[in-house]
Amino acid sequence: MSKNFFLQAPAKINLGLCVKGRRHDGYHELETVMQQISLSDVLLFSSRPGRGWSFSCSDKLLAGPDNLVCKAAKLLADEVSHPLEGVHLTLFKRIPVQAGLGGGSSDAAAALVGLNHYWQLGLSRERLLFLGEQLGSDVPFFLVGGTVLARGRGEVLRSLSAIPFYWVILALVPGDIASTAEVYGSLSPGEYGNPSLETLLRALEAKCRGGLKRWFAREKTNTLATVRLAEAKGSLELAQTLRSQGFSPAQSGSGPTHFLLIEQYGDALTALKAVEELGARAYLCWTMKGSEGMEDV
Ligand code: C5P
Repeated sequence: MSKNFFLQAPAKINLGLCVKGRRHDGYHELETVMQQISLSDVLLFSSRPGRGWSFSCSDKLLAGPDNLVCKAAKLLADEVSHPLEGVHLTLFKRIPVQAGLGGGSSDAAAALVGLNHYWQLGLSRERLLFLGEQLGSDVPFFLVGGTVLARGRGEVLRSLSAIPFYWVILALVPGDIASTAEVYGSLSPGEYGNPSLETLLRALEAKCRGGLKRWFAREKTNTLATVRLAEAKGSLELAQTLRSQGFSPAQSGSGPTHFLLIEQYGDALTALKAVEELGARAYLCWTMKGSEGMEDV
C-alpha cells in the first residue's frame, strides 16, 4: 500500500428507529436499524513534512477544529507518546450536513481507521470502537458498516444479514437542517416505544421484500419523525406530499432527510424526478454491504 491513500466515508439511513426512553446520562435509549449507503464523503491521507497531523476541508465552513475528523485525530494522537509522522487529512464533503445521514460520524470513523493505518499504531478494532463511542453515538456503526441493529445510545451493535439490494432516493429541501440535540430535546415522552421494530427485524431476517414494503408503508417508522422543527419544515412537508403521491418516504435519524427504497432502476428514476419536481434536492444511491473502501492514490 502506498503512503498516500483515501477512504470512502459512507452515509447511513435508519430503516427504523425507536426511542425507548431518556437515560440518566442525558442521552436516549435507542433501538435502530442502520444501513450503510453508497453516498460518501472522501478522506484523503497524504504525507507532509514535519510531525503530527493537519486538516483541510472542501467546505470551508467545516474546516475548523470542531470537525469530528480533527477530534478523532487528536484522540488518536493522544493514545501514543512517541512523535507521529506528518500527515495531512483532506476531507471532500458530499454528504449533506445536519441531515440525519451520519456524515460527520462517518468522517470520524474514517479518520480513526486511516490514521491507525498511516501511523501503524496497531490499535485493535475494540479500541477503535471504544474511541469512536467517545466521539459520537453513531461513530461505532461506521466502524462496522453494512446492516446493523444498534441499541443503547447507538453504540451497542449487532450485525444483521445484509438487506436485499435497493436503490435509495434521498430527498432534502435545500437549506433544511436538524440539530440532533434539538430533535431529541423536543421529543415528547408520550412517543417513547413507538414504533416497535419487531416487524422490520422479522422482514430483514427473512430477507422478505414484501415485509419490508409493508414496514415502509406504515405511517411511522421512526420515533424522531414526530418532532417538527421550523428549520426542517420544507422537508417534512415534502415527505407528506410524496406520501400523498403514493410513495413511502421514511425519515433518516433525526432528519430532515427522507428516503425511499426502490427495487427497480426505472422506478428509482421516476421517484428521482418526482422529488426534483417538488423543488427538493434528490440523490440517487444504493444500499451497501459494508467494506473498508481503502484505495491507494
Ligand atoms: O452522540 P452524539 O454527539 O452524536 O449526539 C448528539 C446529541 O443527540 C446528544 O448530545 C444528545 O442530545 C442527543 N442524543 C440522545 N440520545 C442518543 C443519541 C443522541 O439524546 N442515543
